[in-house]
Amino acid sequence: MIRLAIFASGSGSNAERISDYFSNHSSISIDLFLTNNPQAGVIERGKRLGIPTLVFDKKSFTSSEKILEILKKQEIDFIILAGFLWLIPEMYIKAFPNKIINIHPALLPKYGGKGMWGHHVHEAVVANQETESGITIHYVNEHYDEGRIIFQATCIVDVLDTPEDVAKKIQQLEHTHFPVVIENLLTKQTVNTQNTLS
Ligand code: GRF
Repeated sequence: MIRLAIFASGSGSNAERISDYFSNHSSISIDLFLTNNPQAGVIERGKRLGIPTLVFDKKSFTSSEKILEILKKQEIDFIILAGFLWLIPEMYIKAFPNKIINIHPALLPKYGGKGMWGHHVHEAVVANQETESGITIHYVNEHYDEGRIIFQATCIVDVLDTPEDVAKKIQQLEHTHFPVVIENLLTKQTVNTQNTLS
C-alpha cells in the first residue's frame, strides 16, 4: 500500500473527498490527517471517518523533527496539502523529495504566493475581471505555489459571478479532479496537464 497523509488548515472538504475516493482502494490508503488549526473542520471529519488526526503547533512543525518522526513512524509515503496554509520547511521537502503535492484554487502562476489563499484568490480574480479561473495541482518546494505544475483544470468566470460563485466552481473542480490526479500520479505516472470544464 502507498500510505498518504493529508495536511489541512480549514474545513477539510478535499481531505474528506480524497479519503472517500480511496476507501477500499487496492494500492492507496489515507492514514493520517494533520492540522495546525485546533478549530479546523478537518478534525471533526477525521473523527467521523475514523482517520487519526494530529493537531500541531508552529514550534513542533518548524523547529523540531517531531512531525517528521510521526510521519516516518506511520510509514507515510506521500503527502497531500489540501488547504494547508503554512510554508513547508525544507526538512520535509528533503525527507519527501517530489512526494509532497498541493492544490491551489487558481491558475498558477497567476494568483499565487503568500497571502493568496481561499477567498482572497477568488476576490482578486473577480476584481480583475478574469474570464476564467481554475485549479492547479503542483509539487511543493520551499516557496509558496512555485513547484512544478502537475495538472490544471479551468472554469468560466461569468461577468456577474461573485467571489462566492467562483469558489463554488473551484470547489467542484477540486473535488472532481484532485483524487483522480493523485491516483494517476501514484499508479500511472502520467497525468494530463490541461483539462477544461466549462
Ligand atoms: C481549497 O480551495 C484549496 O485549493 C485551498 O484551500 C481550500 C481548502 O478547502 N488551498 P477545504 O478545506 O478542502 O474545504
